[in-house]
Amino acid sequence: MKQTFSSIQEAIKKGKGKVSIRGWAYRERGSNNLKFVVLRDSSNIVQCVFKKDNFKNQWDEIDKIQVETSMEIHGKISEDKRAPTGYELQVEDFKIVGESDSFPINRDLGPEFLLDVRHLYLRSRKLTSVMKIRHTILQAFRDYFLKEGYFEFTPPILQPTQSEGGSTLFEVKYYKEKMYLAQTWQLYGEASVFSLEKTFCMSPTFRAEKSKTSRHLSEFIMAEMEAAWVDLDGLADHAENLLRFIVKRVLKERKEELNILERDIKKLKKADAPFKRMTYSEVLELLEKKDGMKVEWGKDLRTVEEDKLSKHFDTPIIITHYPEEIMAFYKPPSGDGKTALCMDVIAPEGYGEIIGGSQRDLDIKRMSEKLKKEGEDPKDYQFYWDLRKYGSVPHSGFGMGIERVVAWICGIDNVKEAIAFPRTMTRYSP
Ligand code: 4AD
Ligand code: MG
Repeated sequence: MKQTFSSIQEAIKKGKGKVSIRGWAYRERGSNNLKFVVLRDSSNIVQCVFKKDNFKNQWDEIDKIQVETSMEIHGKISEDKRAPTGYELQVEDFKIVGESDSFPINRDLGPEFLLDVRHLYLRSRKLTSVMKIRHTILQAFRDYFLKEGYFEFTPPILQPTQSEGGSTLFEVKYYKEKMYLAQTWQLYGEASVFSLEKTFCMSPTFRAEKSKTSRHLSEFIMAEMEAAWVDLDGLADHAENLLRFIVKRVLKERKEELNILERDIKKLKKADAPFKRMTYSEVLELLEKKDGMKVEWGKDLRTVEEDKLSKHFDTPIIITHYPEEIMAFYKPPSGDGKTALCMDVIAPEGYGEIIGGSQRDLDIKRMSEKLKKEGEDPKDYQFYWDLRKYGSVPHSGFGMGIERVVAWICGIDNVKEAIAFPRTMTRYSP
């Protein structure tokens, strides 16, 4: 007979009567006459009780159930305020599906060990919750741009040039040639808008970050958009509306997971207000006035400065008009002789930069000069110049670091916890 199982969440929702569930032992403890197994599946956990009286011949087998043993359980569920999720299941029948060795994650262990066993640590309630929230953020990004009439576009990962500066490029042996792993989809995103006008992607991105920080990964997902006829103001509006859309969606669909992560939801709710917008120069003034921090005009904002700034506001902050001199070659001058038409979005609560974007320069000569200064050969960017030669139009785009947004929304302090299998300079397995 084919057995039908419900998820643990469905069983809890049903609340009473007979249910069949299956999953993994999350915790277990026993006495002479009773065994308690908290079973988990992808939906929730529930406490299951085995009474020796009912299982005289199978008690040895029940005694051997360890953390992570996989099993099917049939029995009666009922409300029990003392149980971990408020319900308890009296076991009537069961089947061990897969026995478990003694599970290596059995108490609070050091972060490096947990990274060594990441393939197992993924089963923890913490990481399961983070992964569910990550899923919701990815879906919300897609839904936002679909709702706005954008097309999903998939860029190449193997690319012949840089776009964000040569120092973080990963080189790949490509037959007899040299290629690089994508630092961004941007140059290809720009090509896409001359046919589709409004496009987005969520694509693997690679940067050889040589410093160890809590915000940098070597491989991550960058969610990017590009749109024809959009200027810096329009771009900032999209960044703001997108982030509010994402936060709202997570608050609506992932309450339970935020609760498991002990996230302060009040702080997240405060992000749902008009974002603070300032120019780079205004940021320097504010930092000097309020924090006594002096940043020389022309220097990029560092993490310490971004963090200080974010303490003054409850919402993300959109900073525009950074010094042109320190910006990537494609960010156009604003016309004031020193700044560029670009923006960064800084997350609240000290979670740092989550979005970077700009209007795109249309002047081939100016961009070629900047690339030459970086030691690049403008000839290698022929396809990019073509986009300016044949019916160029103003256009803009941005990229959002998924892991940074996950870290902020989940309230976790390292982006390594925001991705299933993190890659950094020193961490590349499992
Ligand atoms: O600011 P970035 O470098 O912008 C670009 O690459 C543009 N070409 C995007 C565009 O306009 N289409 O990167 C965008 C975002 C950052 O704000 C940050 O959130 C994330 O990508 N990011 C990283 N996340 C994790 N690890 C790293 N090493 C990251 N580098 C950037
Ligand atoms: Mg940036």
